[in-house]
Amino acid sequence: MDISSGLEDVYIKHTGLTSIDGEKGILRYRGYNINDLVEHSTFEEVAYLMLYGELPTSEQLRTFKNSVEKGYLLPDYVKQIISSMPREAEALSVYMTAFAAMSASESNFKWSPQTDKAKAAEIIGHAASVVANANRHSMGLQLRDLAPSDSYARSFLEAALDRKAEQGEVRVMDRALILYLDHEVPASTTAALVACSTLSDMYSSIAAAIAALKGPLHGGAAESAYTQFARIGSPEKVDAWFNENIVEKKQKLMGFGHRVYKTYDPRMKIFKKMATDIVKRDEDRNILLTAEKLEERGVEQFGAKHVYPNTDYYSGIAYRAVGFPVNMFTALFALSRTTGWVAHISEYNESEPRIMRPRALYKGPGPRDLAPVSHH
Ligand SMILES: CC(C)(COP(=O)(O)OP(=O)(O)OC[C@H]1O[C@@H](n2cnc3c(N)ncnc32)[C@H](O)[C@@H]1OP(=O)(O)O)[C@@H](O)C(=O)NCCC(=O)NCCS
Repeated sequence: MDISSGLEDVYIKHTGLTSIDGEKGILRYRGYNINDLVEHSTFEEVAYLMLYGELPTSEQLRTFKNSVEKGYLLPDYVKQIISSMPREAEALSVYMTAFAAMSASESNFKWSPQTDKAKAAEIIGHAASVVANANRHSMGLQLRDLAPSDSYARSFLEAALDRKAEQGEVRVMDRALILYLDHEVPASTTAALVACSTLSDMYSSIAAAIAALKGPLHGGAAESAYTQFARIGSPEKVDAWFNENIVEKKQKLMGFGHRVYKTYDPRMKIFKKMATDIVKRDEDRNILLTAEKLEERGVEQFGAKHVYPNTDYYSGIAYRAVGFPVNMFTALFALSRTTGWVAHISEYNESEPRIMRPRALYKGPGPRDLAPVSHH
């Protein structure tokens, strides 16, 4: 019997949310090309599209924004929990803890297509407030709820960074929110679906997804890629570093490779352009030039194996230029992806959900007699 290692090519649901053409490098949300959505839509419009199936009218958008903004207010106990965490805690761990805590209020939770959408909007609002406050906490600032503004991206940035955000920064944040919003069923979304398939509540299901996102093979890749550029130090050092670490020691090149894309990830190209446009400080430019040189070397080495840079390769450089510390990168990914998680959870529950219960093929010792352990 074959074991499906890494669940590769196993289909766990139908979806009308996201489609990926991994050979051609095309990503679509509900049929719209990601390049068009990033160019012409806002995060709120795309979030609505994912949850409701169509882009909103102005009236629908206003109502949706109001529901999300209600979620900007966090219960006091959540703020207390965030405040009690170590200041150096990874922002993603703060996010996971806050969501696990909020599941405590969900004991009467019942899935229903009518209430799922309202819960999803509340979660999208809470997510921005929690992640912004994780950053405030790490900076030693007093926690505060997000203030409604013209956009989710601006409200989030201004609370997280404790300053007014420039229009260019808001646009980068808004686009990053769209780019990371959904990607079919990677490990984190699958974890959310496994949890919700047991009829667990939405907050618990999101906490499960965050746990699966944390590792460097998934959400943690942006941080690992950025750290790798910083460690190399400058474009001139790329070749020597690459030969020693990637060719000789056979380490993985972080920000490269993807289970589905066998060519350039379309999101990577958009992040690269955004990073190039927004980088101002010399230190950030040096990192960008190092990344570009490494990209060339990596494609030369791995292109024949169809291993190309993915979305996490340049995203950290854009986030850093906006003003976020490295330990926020995975939480920023999680913030965007939260909308994808709730959209998938909702879609799963509106189909004919079954509990996810795979099998493991036993390979241990055969039947044997028990000799009780004697305790002296
Ligand atoms: C994303 C990732 C986990 C996909 O893993 P996967 O689908 O199981 O792919 P595999 O690990 O089987 O890789 C297939 C081949 O490409 C190679 N490869 C894949 N990613 C590589 C990388 N980042 N650096 C060097 N080689 C890589 C593997 O060594 C393997 O080579 P082989 O056939 O000679 O053994 C993997 O590419 C990776 O670890 N990338 C780095 C982390 C990262 O950027 N993650 C973010 C994903 S969005």
